[in-house]
Amino acid sequence: MQGRIVPANADWIAEAGQMIRAGALVAFPTETVYGLGADATNGEAVARVFEAKGRPVFNPLIVHVLGLEQAMIVGTFTAAARRLTDAFWPGPLTLVLPRAETSEISQLVSAGLPTVALRAPAHPAARALLAEAHRPLAAPSANRSGHVSATQAEHVASDIGGKAALILDSGPTALGLESTVVSLVQNEPVLLRPGAVTAEAIENIIGERLIRREDAGDHLTSPGQLASHYAPRARLRLNAYEWQPDEAVLAFGAIPAQPAKAFINLSEGGDLIEAAANLFAALRTLDASGASSIAATPIPANGLGEAINDRLRRAAAPRDEAR
Ligand code: TXA
Ligand code: MG
Repeated sequence: MQGRIVPANADWIAEAGQMIRAGALVAFPTETVYGLGADATNGEAVARVFEAKGRPVFNPLIVHVLGLEQAMIVGTFTAAARRLTDAFWPGPLTLVLPRAETSEISQLVSAGLPTVALRAPAHPAARALLAEAHRPLAAPSANRSGHVSATQAEHVASDIGGKAALILDSGPTALGLESTVVSLVQNEPVLLRPGAVTAEAIENIIGERLIRREDAGDHLTSPGQLASHYAPRARLRLNAYEWQPDEAVLAFGAIPAQPAKAFINLSEGGDLIEAAANLFAALRTLDASGASSIAATPIPANGLGEAINDRLRRAAAPRDEAR
């Protein structure tokens, strides 16, 4: 039974809601990537999430809610936060806010910080699960810590399958990139993680430029933003214009296919939305080719390209061989 993939229909979602209330972990689809959910008010269940992913406990989790009403019990909303939720919720935007005094969320979710990350997902199965569970859900991406995020139920099963009581399957996720994480804890808004909502779209709503992580002081950065993350097994080489026949290739745009161990074009037409949706599955497939190196061709940095390049840079970062 453990790790069983089942369709995300009403019956299984009702079952999953009960499991969540009983303290179990359930993997579920969102519009960005699959999440591994636990009752955010149950410290033991939250602890099992960290254990299941092999996630360092200093890396806090996102709390998923149905909407503003539930969110306001958990976090302290400013005017800017309200403008952003009006514009982007439900959807792929996560806001980091001071924890509210009324919050019943486990401290472990926040990794001991006085802040909390909140997001209202748009995916109907995620919303139905939140409604059935009657609880806010602490849910990281449903992959092994440091590995490529899961955009299909099968990815969840192969990464952490045995740790979830159930995996709700609704096919490949639509966006393929995680939510954008913005901190509104300090005076100035900080882009902690570029993601499925572009920085430009957020800046248009708040009428202010988002500070990039690189330009923010240490106290503003996200604790979990380790240099190496989203990593395939193979070594990843960025901004490649040519490659060896025994390398796998992650291409973008009008790149003529040349001999390679494996070749995937994220979007032949150069569409960043299509590329984002394909990114993580492509990395997994290229990795499975057995190539020891993946060469990635350049991807523009504008719009969603900022988030795609962020993931690729971290997938390419030097990592601890022991992991
Ligand atoms: O699209 C998504 O956001 C997916 C789906 C499942 O919702 N979730 C996801 O969760 O990507 P995870 O745990 O893989 O990434 C959460 C990010 C991490 O970078 C973490 O450090 C940051 O959010 N975060 C969470 N709570 C925070 C806090 N209180 N302060 C700063 N950063 C926080
Ligand atoms: Mg993740």
